[in-house]
Amino acid sequence: MSHSPMSHSPMSHSPMSHSPMTSQRQADRLSSQRSWPVPAALVALSAIPLMAGTLRLVQLAGGPQLMPADERFAGFPLPLILHITGATAYAVVGAFQFVPRFRRHHLTWHRRAGRILTVAGLLVAASALWMTLLYAQQPGTGDLLYVLRLVFGSAMAACLILGFTAIRRRDVAAHRAWMIRAYATGVAAGTQAFTGAIGGALPGTGELRGDLAKGAAWIINLAVAEWVIRRPTRAKGQRRIRAAAPAGAPS
Ligand code: HEM
Repeated sequence: MSHSPMSHSPMSHSPMSHSPMTSQRQADRLSSQRSWPVPAALVALSAIPLMAGTLRLVQLAGGPQLMPADERFAGFPLPLILHITGATAYAVVGAFQFVPRFRRHHLTWHRRAGRILTVAGLLVAASALWMTLLYAQQPGTGDLLYVLRLVFGSAMAACLILGFTAIRRRDVAAHRAWMIRAYATGVAAGTQAFTGAIGGALPGTGELRGDLAKGAAWIINLAVAEWVIRRPTRAKGQRRIRAAAPAGAPS
């Protein structure tokens, strides 16, 4: 590795005179410090359904009854088991796919994990549709949530397929956008824990109010997803500056 003469001069310790290498390292360190809260927040968002899912699996495996039993699942729990296991992998491992620095430095991991996560995500969406159609309606929920689950379960599967086909044709921007939308749709299960809790303030009564509160979680998550997709990033900014620079100008 070659060092620039400047990096050994006393001036190199001045805040005004960092070598490009030092600045790059500092920028990398800063960006990694800034990016870890993202997966941490995403996993925390899904914590409530993930905990509920673990307790449900323990119960179905014959362990202690740590949550109220649900007779609807007891007879044929397969779609629920697939849903919870797929959702656990998708929500937890999937959160790390969105860390730019991790992606840059571990591209092979990102690719391999991405293929597995696409299957896990499709499993979450397919089992969600399967359970909606198979099980008797969840007590306290109405027709609106039934329709929303069919719509967003199908939308999640469509986003995953579009994200996967986009990267097969090397369209990184479209891949990123569809995968963000798919993840946002999936982890609305976590946002529902919060919107459900404040749902008492929404119009309507009983089932409709609960359904609207759960539906709001998908709208909130997708609005945040669209903001993230459109937000200018450092890489996009640098590309724009390079494109605007006159030919031959140092970049
Ligand atoms: C990664 C995100 C997700 C997590 C962590 C998750 C978690 C769970 C858990 C733990 C259960 C079991 C609840 C219980 O035992 O009572 C469940 C059930 C269910 N989930 Fe998800 N889920 C996710 C995404 C989705 C999505 C995107 C949909 C629909 C579009 C969906 C639809 C359903 C349905 C229909 C049930 C059965 C509800 C019932 O009839 O009681 N889930 N989910």
